[in-house]
Amino acid sequence: MDAKKVFVFDTTLRDGEQSPGAALNMDEKLQAARQLAALGVDVIEAGFPVSSPGDFEAVQRVAREVRGPQVCGLARAVKGDIDAAWNAVRPAKRPRIHTFIATSDLHIERKLKMTRPQVLARAVEAVRYAKKYTDNVEFSPEDAVRSDFGYLCSVVQAVIEAGATTVNIPDTVGYAIPAEFGELIRRLIQRVPNIHRAIVSVHCHNDLGLAVSNSLAAVKAGARQVECTINGIGERAGNASLEEVVMILKTRRDFFGLETGINAREIARTSRLVSKLTGIAVQPNKAVVGANAFSHSSGIHQDGVIKERTTYEIMDPAAVGIEESTLLLTARSGRNGVSNRFKHLGYRVTGPKLDDLMEKFKALADKKKYVFDDDLIALLEEDKSSRPEAFTLDYLNTSSGTGVVPTATVRLRKKDEVLQEAACGDGPVDAAYRAMDKIVGLRPKLLDYTLHAISSGKDAQGEVTVKVEKDGLVVSGKGTSTDIIEASAKAYLNALNKLSVPGRGKPSAKNIKVRL
Ligand code: KIV
Ligand code: ZN
Repeated sequence: MDAKKVFVFDTTLRDGEQSPGAALNMDEKLQAARQLAALGVDVIEAGFPVSSPGDFEAVQRVAREVRGPQVCGLARAVKGDIDAAWNAVRPAKRPRIHTFIATSDLHIERKLKMTRPQVLARAVEAVRYAKKYTDNVEFSPEDAVRSDFGYLCSVVQAVIEAGATTVNIPDTVGYAIPAEFGELIRRLIQRVPNIHRAIVSVHCHNDLGLAVSNSLAAVKAGARQVECTINGIGERAGNASLEEVVMILKTRRDFFGLETGINAREIARTSRLVSKLTGIAVQPNKAVVGANAFSHSSGIHQDGVIKERTTYEIMDPAAVGIEESTLLLTARSGRNGVSNRFKHLGYRVTGPKLDDLMEKFKALADKKKYVFDDDLIALLEEDKSSRPEAFTLDYLNTSSGTGVVPTATVRLRKKDEVLQEAACGDGPVDAAYRAMDKIVGLRPKLLDYTLHAISSGKDAQGEVTVKVEKDGLVVSGKGTSTDIIEASAKAYLNALNKLSVPGRGKPSAKNIKVRL
């Protein structure tokens, strides 16, 4: 075994799925498991097979269909659970059974109504039973942190003797403090004579926000497997976040001197997928994968990042699969941030012209939360409002319904010219957008679409706002109508008109992105 490797045991599909409301169906589990394999986790804990027929089947499909990581099933220290776990994981190339029983007096007496010797015997029996199926058996003394240390050591020694190849020390209720947990692992490794026959793992919960810190303190003390979840989801306040553990080990390799097998470039993709599938949003300021993790708002920081990225970034966003850093143009942005964005949009603005624009920019930014590309261009071109729209909507007809392919016919006017196109789409709005793309000859990427009512009653006006991007240029468009399809078409056309302003330079190579 490579002493420098930390094994990553992902329990997103088991403990992560215990997050309220995060239940996944079979296809979703499979999709997530495939992405975890692409991420390069060493072990996927795919579920708790005895808990329901659906979970059993989901674990079985992951075991059958996902190649790369070991596939693990959880089981209480009960024969029926172990049978179910084995039957579910056995199709995997490298199956693992993970069995557990609580070892704290609180759990032993109040929950299990057992004694310490009975629990020890049950733990040993469970591991022996699981060993009949596979060599790859993990044992967890649940609530280890609140267990009597001497007793915990006896249980760990006994289960290794019985054949456990991984012993996992859980901080089930997130009670530990990093220095204390690190010390617990250090002392356990010193005290248990056969510990070298097993991998020491840790499994930390985040009740006090210390799951990642505790996991890493344990790694520093000799643990070589970390159990974690994508985005840190899990029971109550969640588990140690995989992306944080991995990126700390990678970024501070100088301190830990350890490696994981994770392909970090898949982190952002995995985070987004898990968030989408579970419906659990990632907080914007979440380390590594939050929307703001690589966004710079203050003028001083933007200036620093433009001059040298590492002034304010300790990780390269590309290293975790995020395209680029984001400089948010707000009232706090400075000259360098603004002129750099103009440069990106194809305009060279310097000297007194920039001074003048900065004044206008600050006035606008005080009124608006974010200043977008089209706002900047409007500042430059002064009279956005008096600029005539190149294309105007002359006619729109859409058809859609059950069993009908959504289609749209659009007629646009450009000075004296009348241009008409028809298109099919995923819905009437999409069809109308495709028809307009054909007429205008642009096919921008739709980044955002929002619809809200701006008056009340049955004849309420709907206001649609879109954000589109073409060749790095981000513009917004607005449209209002009592008909939401017409409002959508007007908003898109408004954005297309901004993109098709004649004489605008091509955006330069990308280096900053303005986030929506
Ligand atoms: O938190 C915990 O103790 C667990 C065990 C089953 C490992 O999830
Ligand atoms: Zn747990």
